[in-house]
Amino acid sequence: MIRFGFNRYGTPQVFQVLESDPPQPKPGQVQLKVLGFGLNPYDASLRRGEQAAFRKLSFPIVPGTDVLGEVTQLGEGVTEFAVGDVVINYRPIGGYSEYVTATVGKVIKKPTALDDAAAAGLGQVGIAAYSILQQLNLNPGQTLTVLGASGGVGALLVQMAKHEGLHVLAIAGSASQTYLESLGADQVATYDDAPTLPASDATVNAINGGDDHGLGGILTKAGGTLLTTAYRTPDVQGRALKLIQLGDDRPAKAEVVLPYLAELASSTELSVRIAERLPFSLAGVVQGHELLATHHAAGKLVVLR
Ligand SMILES: NC(=O)c1ccc[n+]([C@@H]2O[C@H](COP(=O)([O-])OP(=O)(O)OC[C@H]3O[C@@H](n4cnc5c(N)ncnc54)[C@H](OP(=O)(O)O)[C@@H]3O)[C@@H](O)[C@H]2O)c1
Repeated sequence: MIRFGFNRYGTPQVFQVLESDPPQPKPGQVQLKVLGFGLNPYDASLRRGEQAAFRKLSFPIVPGTDVLGEVTQLGEGVTEFAVGDVVINYRPIGGYSEYVTATVGKVIKKPTALDDAAAAGLGQVGIAAYSILQQLNLNPGQTLTVLGASGGVGALLVQMAKHEGLHVLAIAGSASQTYLESLGADQVATYDDAPTLPASDATVNAINGGDDHGLGGILTKAGGTLLTTAYRTPDVQGRALKLIQLGDDRPAKAEVVLPYLAELASSTELSVRIAERLPFSLAGVVQGHELLATHHAAGKLVVLR
């Protein structure tokens, strides 16, 4: 089988095709034929070598946390799945592959309401959005502002926050205003118009790269919480705020979040916007990583067979 990975850090061109035998499932695992995988900003930071100080990995490194797959083999003792099931798997690494193995707790059957692209792009942003809500610990009726609400994490967070009864103000670029309304946000605005909005109990900066020009500070009530998703020092605009950096605490467990996402997808019209569907090839992976380095059209980048 082939995998897409790299033997040195650098530009998207470091990716190469790697050949190996398909992994065999251990007891409690399934083998999946990968039908597609999501690309995330985290994968690009792995490729650039920025995670090397925090995570010991040896080359070749094969990124990929979000997999849509078809069950091809069952490990000993697995009764939850059958060969042929189409499933979503969230994994620490290694998803850019033709085949993977996965522990059953980190696999759910693909909700029928989601198409393949949405299902392939759901894992990491779903875990991030769930972890954010858990760490903010707001009560129904409290106000939440989401900056970068058009993106993978932001759009899911808006939908989950509405599902949990929060009052949500969604901020993104002018091209995404109608989309933000479709997510059920109570108020939407562009970055330029956002300073006129009332301050919230909490603000999440889900802008890719985190450059919010001080909006997080302006849009959060004194004593409120500002949560940052990118590793960037927040500009609090002189306000006394509780600061949270996503990633400093352990993320919510896939075993908890995946069933929550499946329930959300069947009880609401969960929207996972796709920016680009890329081919399941080295060229597709390289193109996807080139797009990750740009302010690309809002939504998920997914590679599909
Ligand atoms: N720590 C963690 O556990 C964790 C987990 C997942 C993600 N993250 C971080 O969370 C952030 C959001 O992730 P994501 O997957 O939601 O990102 P994304 O979909 O690629 O981007 C989110 C939004 O950022 C806005 N944006 C503004 N300026 C941008 C620029 N220069 N380049 C790209 N986008 C820009 C875009 O909205 P507009 O076009 O509407 O402005 C875009 O929709 C990233 O920084 C990511 O690294 C952290």
